[in-house]
Amino acid sequence: DTGKSGYDHFMLKEIHEQPRALRQCLQGRVDEMGGRVTLDVDVDPERVQFVACGTSYHAALYGAELFRQAGVPAQAFLASEYATSPPPVDDALVIGVTQSGETADTLSALREARSRGVRTLACTNTVGSTAARECDEVLYIRSGPEIGVAATKTFAAQQTALNALALSVAQERRRAGDVRDSLSALRELPGDVQAVLDESNAEALAEEFVGAPSYFFIGRGVHFPVALEGALKLKEISYGHAEGFASGELKHGPLALVTDETPVFAVVTGDGPLATKTIGNVKEVESRDAPVVAVTDGRSKVERYADHVLEIPEAPPRTAAVLANVQLQLVAYHVADRLGRPIDKPRNLAKSVTVE
Ligand code: G6P
Repeated sequence: DTGKSGYDHFMLKEIHEQPRALRQCLQGRVDEMGGRVTLDVDVDPERVQFVACGTSYHAALYGAELFRQAGVPAQAFLASEYATSPPPVDDALVIGVTQSGETADTLSALREARSRGVRTLACTNTVGSTAARECDEVLYIRSGPEIGVAATKTFAAQQTALNALALSVAQERRRAGDVRDSLSALRELPGDVQAVLDESNAEALAEEFVGAPSYFFIGRGVHFPVALEGALKLKEISYGHAEGFASGELKHGPLALVTDETPVFAVVTGDGPLATKTIGNVKEVESRDAPVVAVTDGRSKVERYADHVLEIPEAPPRTAAVLANVQLQLVAYHVADRLGRPIDKPRNLAKSVTVE
């Protein structure tokens, strides 16, 4: 029907719109030749506190990790908790990540921060939204409107905008080397997302695992929020049980639930120490006979311990996190589609929740 451009669901259309959404997000902001990021926001914070809900909270966790990598102490808080149980603000810049700009919990966390006299920034998709109007600064993610209740392209655009924001701060702090490498990765990101979309085998994998009693997702560092988001997407639209974990935490409890019927999706990119550690965690589930799906660029050879691979192009961790997430979006979509779920309007959920 109208507006879906031939796709069965808005969600699938929006997943496929991601290359364009990311190009729009980066337009005019990344000057690879000059080695600079230019954003129309004026921030060079001492420390950062993120507040957000749902998928946007996962983007906030990702953003906090990037700020810490830029040398800025940063933490992500669930907005509902921040609003009612606020931490000390310590001159932090408080960043509300909210696609709609209207989520009541996030607005209330931002108001709490403002009432204590700190600066606020809204990272949002919606021009003129309440968050955009009430915050001191606004960083638009520019992904275009999203109809599907499950956030897809807006999450990728949040990751991308926060990536650029963290780079602009690194730039202020003269960490030029970090900035140049990351800039070229950002420029390649839309094309790499397109490659994932063109070549993904997620549909066949979804077919294999549809109806599993539980799905686990693991990742480390920037891939931890991707694991959380992979699980959330699957829950929201397929109604299957799914959990995301920091890879290292698996052995501290969740491993008790792992059986030969629990597919484990492990995000492992690059060949550095984080990949090696996550491979150790993959072995823990493999030895319990869990089917393992590695989301990987192949550099770590994790596929030796995996039953299946969802491949992504080689990229530094921060952009690999966007690419891996696209594969997991497709898995969630195809599992839900096989089950005949109302993908664009899952039961009990709303696109924007305007009550606390
Ligand atoms: C709702 C939606 C989620 C979304 C969350 C935060 O719960 O169903 O998909 O992530 O709100 O929305 P926001 O507009 O603040 O990003």
